[in-house]
Amino acid sequence: MSGHTDMVLVDENGIRIDGRRVDEKRPIKIEAGVLKNASGSCYLEIGKNKVLCAVYGPRECRPRHLQDPTKAVIQVKYNMEAYSVTDRKRPGTDRRSVEISKLIAEALECVVQTELYPRASIDVYIEILQANAGTRCAGLTAASVALADAGIPMRDIVPAIACGKADGNVLLDLNKEEDNYGQADVPIAIVPSTDEIVLLQMDGNMTREELDHGLDMAIAAAHEVYEIQRDALKRRYASISKKEGESDE
Ligand code: CDP
Repeated sequence: MSGHTDMVLVDENGIRIDGRRVDEKRPIKIEAGVLKNASGSCYLEIGKNKVLCAVYGPRECRPRHLQDPTKAVIQVKYNMEAYSVTDRKRPGTDRRSVEISKLIAEALECVVQTELYPRASIDVYIEILQANAGTRCAGLTAASVALADAGIPMRDIVPAIACGKADGNVLLDLNKEEDNYGQADVPIAIVPSTDEIVLLQMDGNMTREELDHGLDMAIAAAHEVYEIQRDALKRRYASISKKEGESDE
């Protein structure tokens, strides 16, 4: 955000550098159950972002001092691989990954029925294999699917997407250039059954009217992401049922 470029991010016809309209999200692909050893897993692509998520648990919480006698704790580790960006990213935990892990865990706590598993831990690993802006939203969207794939009871699954502003236009789902050189980036996640907002951040500046417009676009798009998450889970359950049917024969 706030970098400078001579690049035209949105042309006079309202078309963005990747050919999208201002209210268009990037293509999304979601596949559940991609890792055999995890309790639940998900692979997700949105535009050039590629994300893998693995869920383990509920299992005994380690380290023990983190145990909560009233509920499970959700431990999220968001990690951006060194090779995921064009400039090599220094491997390991940094302030940004700690912040993103914390806000994803807080969003998931709003839907996971943690009270069913006192003293347990639900461990969520999010690996960003390729990054092109919007990775926290992609990571949270994938994590919800992986938790559902693990069979962990949830009130709902959480879709996430960003809105923002570049070249004076309110945009849906910013790509890297729009994120780097635009005026605002606003990731949001919702609980679709209630439209409750479980993640909202704002980097940059927008007027109140622009923000309202951006949030309307992002909430509508989040409902579309939700349908893609549900379709991925339906495909996963259909393939499990088919395999079980075959082994019964
Ligand atoms: O990915 P997200 O939009 O959630 O977070 P960000 O901190 O706004 O980062 C935006 C983008 O900048 C990332 O998706 C990466 O493409 C890029 N980035 C990078 O190239 N190197 C970093 N150390 C961090 C981010």
